[in-house]
Amino acid sequence: MCGIVGYVGSQSALEIVTAGLKRLEYRGYDSAGVAVLADGGLAAAKKAGKLVNLEKELKERPLPTGSTAIGHTRWATHGGPTDANAHPHLDNAGRVAVVHNGIIENFAALRAELEERGHELGSETDTEVVAHLIAEEFSGCADLAEAMRLVCRRLEGAFTLVAVHADEPDVVVGARRNSPLVVGVGEGEAFLASDVAAFIDHTRAAIELGQDQVVELRRDGVSVTGFDGRPADVRSYRVDWDAAAAEKGGYDYFMLKEIAEQPKAVADTLLGRIDASGSLTLDEVRISASALREVDKVVIVACGTAFHAGLIAKYAIEHWTRIPCEVELASEFRYRDPILDQQTLVIAISQSGETMDTLMALRHAREQGARVLAICNTNGSTIPRESDAVLYTHAGPEVAVASTKAFLTQLVACYLVALYLGQVRGTKWGDEIGAVIRELSRISCEVERVLETMEPVRELARSLASKNTVLFLGRHVGYPVALEGALKLKELAYMHAEGFAAGELKHGPIALIEDDLPVVVVVPSPRGRSVLHDKIVSNMQEIRARGARTIVIAEEGDEAVVPYADHLIRIPATPTLLQPLVATVPLQVFACELATARGNEVDQPRNLAKSVTVE
Ligand code: F6R
Repeated sequence: MCGIVGYVGSQSALEIVTAGLKRLEYRGYDSAGVAVLADGGLAAAKKAGKLVNLEKELKERPLPTGSTAIGHTRWATHGGPTDANAHPHLDNAGRVAVVHNGIIENFAALRAELEERGHELGSETDTEVVAHLIAEEFSGCADLAEAMRLVCRRLEGAFTLVAVHADEPDVVVGARRNSPLVVGVGEGEAFLASDVAAFIDHTRAAIELGQDQVVELRRDGVSVTGFDGRPADVRSYRVDWDAAAAEKGGYDYFMLKEIAEQPKAVADTLLGRIDASGSLTLDEVRISASALREVDKVVIVACGTAFHAGLIAKYAIEHWTRIPCEVELASEFRYRDPILDQQTLVIAISQSGETMDTLMALRHAREQGARVLAICNTNGSTIPRESDAVLYTHAGPEVAVASTKAFLTQLVACYLVALYLGQVRGTKWGDEIGAVIRELSRISCEVERVLETMEPVRELARSLASKNTVLFLGRHVGYPVALEGALKLKELAYMHAEGFAAGELKHGPIALIEDDLPVVVVVPSPRGRSVLHDKIVSNMQEIRARGARTIVIAEEGDEAVVPYADHLIRIPATPTLLQPLVATVPLQVFACELATARGNEVDQPRNLAKSVTVE
C-alpha cells in the first residue's frame, strides 16, 4: 500500500525514481509524485491519478536534473486522491520533502500544534505534518537523520517515511515502523524502496530494515540506527530473482503472465520438500518435532485470497492429522479474544508478508504464547520475520493486484504443512496419503494441462460481459474455491459475485436465482466422496429448474453432470483435497477475461492496492 522510492548516486535520480515507481505502481495508483535535489534547492512535481499523469507533467514541465530524489505512488488513506494530497509533501520553506506509507494516528494533534506555531498546512493528509516537524527539528541539529529520529519518536501508528533536505543534498533518510522498506546498495549509489522490484535493475545487494529504525543513505554507504540513535544490527541479503520476473514478458497483463507461471510456481514450491520415498523435509520449519507433537489446535489467520487458501487447508489438516483447525479472518481475530496457548499452532498466510491485519493477528497470537508459522512469498518481509518459523512459497514476484500464482503456492505450502504435521506426529495413514503425495508431486503438470484448454472459458467470459451478477457454488473444498472465484470476479470485473456452500442455497440464497443467471458450480470428484458429488448434482437440478444458466467445472470422465451443464469446463481428476489446485485456474481466467471484455484495468483494479499495510 503506497510505493516509495529513494535514490542517491551519480545517475539521473529522477529517471531512477520514476522507473522504480513504475515497478511499484501495483501498491497504489491514486496519485504519484517526485522530489529532486538540484542546484542547492528542491523541486517537486505531483499529480492525481496514475503514474502516466505524472510522467506527462514531467515532460511538459521538466524538473532540474539532480542525483538525489524520492518518489511516491499513493493508495489514499487520509484525504482524497487529489494533486494537493499527493506526495511528496513539503515544509513551508520548500526545503524538506517527505513521502510516506502508512497512517500517522496522532497527526491531528500534531497538526494543531504546528498551526499554533504558525505553520500553514495545505493538504488533508497525515503526512504533511512530518515535513513540517522535520524542518523544525533540522533547524536545531542540521542533521536530517537526527531530525527524522526526533520526529519518529513523536509519531504514533504505522509508517514508512523517506525524506530529503535541500541543505543535505547527497543524503536520503528513511524510517520504518511496521510498513515495509528495503535498502539497495550499489557501487557509489544507494536505493530505498518499499519493494526490491524498484531497484533490481541496478543491484541485488539488499538490506532489510527492522522495526523502529532510521537509515541514512549516502553515495558511499548506508548507516542504520534505532529511533533512539543507537547503531542497529541489520540483515544483508541477495535478491534471488532476476529483473525479467518483474516485467510482463510479452503478456498484455501481469495477471496473464502470473496465471501462466502457475505450473512452475507450484513445482518450485514443492522442490526439494518431498523425497523419492514420499517423505517430507521442511528444514525451514524451525519448530521442534516435540513442539509440533504437542500441538492440540491449529488456527489459520489470513485475509482475502490467502484466507481462502486457509479455508482449504482446514479440510486437509483436519482430515490428514486429526488436529482441530480453525480459520479466521485476520482482521477479526484479535478483537474476539481468541483462546490460544503454547499448544496452539497459528499459521499466518500472506503473499506480501506485510498485510497489517495478518501481522497484528500474529503478534496477538505470540503474546498469548502460541507458536506462529508463516506461509509467505516475500523473503525478508515483516510477517516471516516476526514468526517462529516460515515456509516460503516460491511463486516469484506477484505484481498483478489480483492474486493467482501466490494462491496456488499457498495451497501447496498448506498441504505440505498438513502432511508434515502428520508425519512428525506419526499419524497412522492408510493408502490415501501415499497417493496424495504422489499426486501432489506431479500436480504442476495437471495445472499446465488446465491452462492448455482455457480458450472456451475465455469465450464464455466474453459472452457474459453484460451480465450484472454471477453466483458460485461449491461443496467441501469446492466451497472456498467458489468464494475465491467470486472474489476474483468482484475485484476484476466489478460485478456482483457471491460464493455459496451449495448446501446453503436452499436456506436463502436460492431466492436470487432467476432466468439466465450464470451460476458457476464447482463439482467434487465422483470418486471417493461420491455422496458429495450426488448432492451437488441435485443442487444443479434445483437451480436449473429455476432458470439458472449453469457453468459446471467437473472432473474429466464425470458424465453425471452432463445433462445439467449449460457450459462444461473439464479439469483433470485429482484427489479431492487437491482439486482446488486445478479448479481455481479456470475461475482466474474467467475473471481476467471478463474484466478485459468490460474494459477494466486488469492489473490495477479500482480502489485496490496489492499490499494492504493499514488495518
Ligand atoms: C485478492 C488479493 C487479496 C490478498 C489479501 C492478502 O486477489 O490479492 O485478497 O490475498 O489482501 O494479501 P497477502 O497475501 O499479501 O497478505
